[in-house]
Amino acid sequence: MHVLTVLDHPNPTSFSAAVAQRFMEGAQAAGHTVELTDLHAEGFNPLWSMEDIERDAQARDPADVVAEQARIERADALCLVFPLFWWGMPSMMKGWVDRVWTWGWAYDQLDDPNRSLLRPRSGVLLVPAGARSDEMDAAGYKAALETVWMNGTFGYFGLSPRRLEVLNGSSGSDARRQALMDRSYDAGFTLLPPDPAV
Ligand SMILES: Cc1cc2nc3c(=O)[nH]c(=O)nc-3n(C[C@H](O)[C@H](O)[C@H](O)COP(=O)(O)O)c2cc1C
Repeated sequence: MHVLTVLDHPNPTSFSAAVAQRFMEGAQAAGHTVELTDLHAEGFNPLWSMEDIERDAQARDPADVVAEQARIERADALCLVFPLFWWGMPSMMKGWVDRVWTWGWAYDQLDDPNRSLLRPRSGVLLVPAGARSDEMDAAGYKAALETVWMNGTFGYFGLSPRRLEVLNGSSGSDARRQALMDRSYDAGFTLLPPDPAV
């Protein structure tokens, strides 16, 4: 498979950047080809603007959006890597989602969250988070993210199968961080093919 990894972190030596790297190494070890979209390094503009709104009338997306869509189109699997910020996406990843996955290109109906205009792609979200997993489960944050991301966003985008891996305790001990790196590698190595049924 051809695997596109999209990274949101301004620091190339961050934990998140290392997660993306390990994921890609795992995917390559499994025989896949990899491509990286490093949103900060590439200077992606995450701000939704009048240009995006006017595209609805012209049915033509801005050039930077079209370039991102082309990367998605040639991928069989997607991996998004971003740190958990305020129980959501940081602004760069949020802007990439808002601007790139456009109505009429990715989806055209909102009544069925498992229908996309795009062919199915395997999808994984690798999300470093400071909180412990038991804290997140107890407070309902993990269930909330499963609902809004897995059901409410990435179904419309044709990601199937799709899964969310919250990398809890990312600022913990060296042993903890190493275990999370191993999980990131495994996520790449065990990547499933797209679900043909969707
Ligand atoms: C602005 C901001 C908001 C954050 N919000 C959360 C949060 O809601 N939940 C959480 O578990 N961790 C939160 N964190 C912690 C980060 O997710 C965690 O430190 C992550 O490892 C950062 O990625 P990095 O190590 O690659 O920089 C937040 C950190 C920052 C800077």
